[in-house]
Amino acid sequence: MSNKLDLSKELIGRRALVTGGTKGIGAAIAQRLLDAGARVVVAARSRNDETPAEATFVSGDVTTSEGVDAIAKQALAAVGGLDILVNNAGGGGAFLGGSWTIPEKAWNESFALNLFAAIRLTNALLPALRASKAAAVVNISSAAATIAFAPSAHYGAAKAALEYYSRTLAMELAPSGIRVNVVSPGVISTPGSAEFAKTTPGFSSDDWVRNIPLGRLGGTEDIAEVVALLASDRGKFLTGANYRVDGGMTVR
Ligand SMILES: NC(=O)c1ccc[n+]([C@@H]2O[C@H](COP(=O)([O-])OP(=O)(O)OC[C@H]3O[C@@H](n4cnc5c(N)ncnc54)[C@H](OP(=O)(O)O)[C@@H]3O)[C@@H](O)[C@H]2O)c1
Repeated sequence: MSNKLDLSKELIGRRALVTGGTKGIGAAIAQRLLDAGARVVVAARSRNDETPAEATFVSGDVTTSEGVDAIAKQALAAVGGLDILVNNAGGGGAFLGGSWTIPEKAWNESFALNLFAAIRLTNALLPALRASKAAAVVNISSAAATIAFAPSAHYGAAKAALEYYSRTLAMELAPSGIRVNVVSPGVISTPGSAEFAKTTPGFSSDDWVRNIPLGRLGGTEDIAEVVALLASDRGKFLTGANYRVDGGMTVR
């Protein structure tokens, strides 16, 4: 008998929802789960060229409770239940004048997108996850939750709160067999990070690479691979963990 894992089959029969799965890191996660045999729903405000063709697209804004309810309802109708929830939609701009110049509106929007969206969607889908025999939640945080990242205190603070929430939820849901883990990307090549580099002086790709011990930006597949591990039975003894996928940036 072979002990070799067939990664193209390990998620057959599993149903997944990836928020922000239409581009960047989320699209790579959705594609990786599809490649492993899962049925995948991606949720965002709009579809685009990067959206994996085999995924079911559902539209909704994760920052509103109506949007979250619509996403949860459409996802359950599309695949009939849920085993894997990836709260990936997120992001935040930069304010170069100091954290005291970040408007209250930007703080509110950041917490709505990077923290409350994950809480609302997890709450909405908890009954479905409880009904699964292999439920896994993966929340996408950021290296910005750990390092002091001055231009985006509103973003790092929301992601730090997401990490705390995830650890707590992991302990609460462990007796039900629902695993909750976090992946914290460093700087990854995506439309989101390209926009950030373009609009924020001092944060070009070259500036970042100088601070990354492995000497390159991450690829979206680097994040997707770790999400697939956490979502699959290979990660069956992992809960409450935070995987830093950042080329060593936060250790430095
Ligand atoms: N890229 C990096 O270097 C990096 C580093 C650390 C952490 N991260 C984290 O990784 C995650 C993905 O980042 P990314 O760079 O791949 O982002 P991205 O390229 O900007 O893509 C963001 C995705 O989220 C969706 N989205 C944004 N706002 C939404 C809303 N209100 N409701 C529903 N969907 C929404 C977008 O679609 P629509 O706009 O059509 O809604 C899109 O699908 C985020 O949580 C981010 O904070 C990224």
